[in-house]
Amino acid sequence: MGIVGIRKRGFSEALLPLVVAVLFGSIIFVERFKIASGLNYTNYRQVSTLRLERIQNHLDKINKPPVITIQSPDGDIIDCVHKRKQPALDHPLLKNHKIQKTPPEMPKMVKKQALKENDEMNRNNKNEDQVKMNMNIKGTWQMWHTNGTRCPKGTVPIRRSTVHDVLRAKSLFDFGKKQRKFDLHRRSDAPDVVSGNGHEHAIAYTGTSQEVFGAKATINVWDPSIQVVNEFSLSQIWILSGSFDGSDLNSIEAGWQVSPELYGDSRPRLFTYWTTDSYQATGCYNLLCAGFVQTNSRIAIGAAISPVSSYSGNQYDVTILIWKDPKLGNWWMGFGDNTLVGYWPAELFTHLADHATMVEWGGEVVNTRPSGVHTATQMGSGHFAEDGFGKASYFRNLEIVDSDNSLSSVHGISTLAENTNCYNIKSLYNNEWGTYFYYGGPGNNPKCP
Ligand SMILES: *[C@@H]1O[C@H](CO)[C@@H](O)[C@H](O)[C@H]1NC(C)=O
Ligand SMILES: *[C@@H]1O[C@H](CO)[C@@H](O)[C@H](O)[C@H]1NC(C)=O
Repeated sequence: MGIVGIRKRGFSEALLPLVVAVLFGSIIFVERFKIASGLNYTNYRQVSTLRLERIQNHLDKINKPPVITIQSPDGDIIDCVHKRKQPALDHPLLKNHKIQKTPPEMPKMVKKQALKENDEMNRNNKNEDQVKMNMNIKGTWQMWHTNGTRCPKGTVPIRRSTVHDVLRAKSLFDFGKKQRKFDLHRRSDAPDVVSGNGHEHAIAYTGTSQEVFGAKATINVWDPSIQVVNEFSLSQIWILSGSFDGSDLNSIEAGWQVSPELYGDSRPRLFTYWTTDSYQATGCYNLLCAGFVQTNSRIAIGAAISPVSSYSGNQYDVTILIWKDPKLGNWWMGFGDNTLVGYWPAELFTHLADHATMVEWGGEVVNTRPSGVHTATQMGSGHFAEDGFGKASYFRNLEIVDSDNSLSSVHGISTLAENTNCYNIKSLYNNEWGTYFYYGGPGNNPKCP
């Protein structure tokens, strides 16, 4: 936890030694970054010239020529790229795609009839927790905004990928993807998650018989500590359709994540993900492959969120809405109250071209069992659900979008955590927060060996 004193090098600065070294055939990477928070971000050593060339070719494809470039204090380089030059349009299915300009019809809010009846009861029941909840919650911004420079009109901010970002991944193929090395298998007690491979969850989910056209939630932001570089901790919404035990699962995902492997630091970052084949060959995080079309010039996907919540202190949260435009079928993403970030074009999907069959909200970590025991990588705030507001992390105002494009509080959710001694979840309801839950945990502890 805490601030990590790492400054990644700029693109040209980082490349210079590589270019020089390429002349000598192979490269020994020396310690390039300060090791903070005990993580070794340079867990790679020798890189062949051929591999570097391949990596550079790939980076040349995904890093588009910027109109201007903005340096963030956390070391990120944000390229302001002309909208029509963004990576999405490299997708073979999007050759003739016309970038949407006019915003789609936002989902309508439904009157909370059922809640009114409970008003009296709720007022009387207003406990200390609820009063606290209303007091010190604040909105967040992105760290690169402190630079002061904005992306010009007609451009979108894109976090630049570096050679080091790729070298931390297992391979060039794995860069930007969620890893699914083992067979997906369906667990009878976990019908709704792609489990296995050390992925552990604490999630809430909707029933399977429903047709869903979107989901929304406000997510508490923390900076859980990660034990080893190739583990992560995330908190997100999943929009799903297809089979969990096949290879055709369609998933659209967004939230915040701490992933030292992907970003080279331990800050929580806004992220998106999509796949149409159960995390195999299609899709990726953020704009690391062609797919997601960005329309917003202020929000950079993959950029650090700031500030973050502190234990018994100020709480910060982000609101994420994902829904299908009923007219054109694109899945849009909203951030905060009224900001549209961009969309996943309808062309990308198979099952999700129609509707989602399930929504999940919650946390996921990877447990690689470093040193033979359960990882100490934290989920949420690192505290269990029962610790409540200001201590445990929360998702509040869980809502879904139905077939007539209206938002309503989700009812009848189920919850799941594979091992509640490591990470758990507790769902609740009140008038202000609608359906909400606390979730998370410390991972390794005497009960979670
Ligand atoms: C990080 O990992 C690399 C590769 O295993 C190793 O050579 C290097 O010494 C490690 N650095 C630290 C500080 O442990
Ligand atoms: C903002 O980014 C520009 C371009 O990279 C850089 O020259 C400048 O120093 C940055 N300003 C601040 C205040 O960080």
